[in-house]
Amino acid sequence: MINIAIDGPAGAGKSTISKAAAKELGFIYIDTGALYRTVGLNAMRKGADLENDESIASTLTNDLSLELRFVDGEQRMFLNGEDVSLAIRTPEASMAASRVSAVPAVREYLFDLQKKLAKENNCVMDGRDIGTVVLPDAKVKIFLTASPESRAKRRYDELIQKGMDVKYEDVLNDMKQRDYNDSHRAVAPLKPAADAILLDTSGFELERSVALIIKTIKENI
Ligand code: DC
Repeated sequence: MINIAIDGPAGAGKSTISKAAAKELGFIYIDTGALYRTVGLNAMRKGADLENDESIASTLTNDLSLELRFVDGEQRMFLNGEDVSLAIRTPEASMAASRVSAVPAVREYLFDLQKKLAKENNCVMDGRDIGTVVLPDAKVKIFLTASPESRAKRRYDELIQKGMDVKYEDVLNDMKQRDYNDSHRAVAPLKPAADAILLDTSGFELERSVALIIKTIKENI
């Protein structure tokens, strides 16, 4: 199977760009952030102490079911049979995802699931540690980034479009806090793989970013 790894910080446009690239290549798109978000949502719902690793790990029970389903080429996320694709996008779920993703037991739990998906499908997988940890042998690795302000603006527009009531300053602060958490954690911190191609999309229109990534993948596949 051909696997493409796309990593980078929150809001770099990874999901939109990866989805478009997957479509063009005829591969499936796997958004691993959605898996961490779902574990975070589950931990919140179960009343776990999000400052405590053991409390978070205790929510990974045997009966927990996380499932990615592909409906008309769109990835939908299911938690114990419930479609949580929207519920995992709130600012609270984002922060919970960032917290649970620092817990080694959570990363191990999701590692096997991600490996299995990559083994069974030609895919474009996006996340934070795909090129470094999950798929070190990926055919093409891309590290996609952009300035915090440019990423916060994109995320803000996205949330407003979804009808959520948010302030730009809050989105920017959340973004900076998450960047800090993601790059300073002890396990699988956010960093480019040694053999990743770095792409900076600050100030790029979406179409230009998509064209650039498709060209880069095709040249390296
Ligand atoms: O990409 P995102 O914003 O949906 O990711 C949600 C959180 O999950 C983010 O704080 C980083 C974390 N994450 C991770 O640690 N490893 C991944 N492969 C994907 C996401």
